[in-house]
Amino acid sequence: MARRAERALERQLAYQQQKAAAVRGREDEYVARMLRKSSEVRAKLEAVRPVQDDARVLEVGSGAHGLIFYFGGSNGVGVDPLADHYAAMFPWQKRVKTIAAAGEDLPFEDGSFDIVLCDNVIDHAHNPSKILSEIARVLAPGGLMYFTVNVHHPFYHYAASAHAAWRALGVPLEITPFADHTVHLTLPAARGLLRELPFAIISQRDTIQDVRRQSGLEKPRHAGDRLKRLFFKNALFEVIAVRQDNP
Ligand SMILES: C[S@@+](CC[C@H](N)C(=O)[O-])C[C@H]1O[C@@H](n2cnc3c(N)ncnc32)[C@H](O)[C@@H]1O
Repeated sequence: MARRAERALERQLAYQQQKAAAVRGREDEYVARMLRKSSEVRAKLEAVRPVQDDARVLEVGSGAHGLIFYFGGSNGVGVDPLADHYAAMFPWQKRVKTIAAAGEDLPFEDGSFDIVLCDNVIDHAHNPSKILSEIARVLAPGGLMYFTVNVHHPFYHYAASAHAAWRALGVPLEITPFADHTVHLTLPAARGLLRELPFAIISQRDTIQDVRRQSGLEKPRHAGDRLKRLFFKNALFEVIAVRQDNP
């Protein structure tokens, strides 16, 4: 898993370096998109309770274009293993302090945050469940978590395991979705990661039926599309939860 995580990070960096070149001159489009997404997520959290301007907000895996950069407020911080690279590539990164660290080992005291965001990160990382337990640790009791991860048909879990096995044997063939992720979670597996943690789930949803419907509407361009019709891929699992008091 460590080797897969390292390779996924190398690939993420190469991808974002290409993207940084493509973004130049089109920053406004990207900013508009980030603003829209951050304010949608903020509104979902504000439906649970008001978010104060001085709320301590952490984004784990803040990435190149995370939620934190336009979330608003005066106490935002982002953590990402590639944070220093992203800071040098994308102008909006300077809006918020970012720290180069792994979500599995967050450099904060227990209960340091009122809100933690983690959007499309854990299946790129070495130890997804450790990231969730670190989020629970650094959230103050009563604090809010916004969490998403992609979920897939079980087929991709087995295909990803086969891919990892042949890569470990030194076979050079690399298939993009498997090389960019450390795991392909099913919906029950993603739910299971939250089960033992001190979170009260406020809302959860998944887009599996939407993805299935959409792939049925589109004309397949190649074998990959036909496969996606049979076995859905990249549906979203989204959770809003409150950190419970320690027992
Ligand atoms: C698909 S990107 C999403 C980034 C951001 N949340 C966004 O939506 O733009 C996944 C991010 O996870 C980061 N990542 C990979 N391993 C991680 C880890 N162990 N802890 C925290 N972030 C990690 C990658 O560097 C990358 O920025």
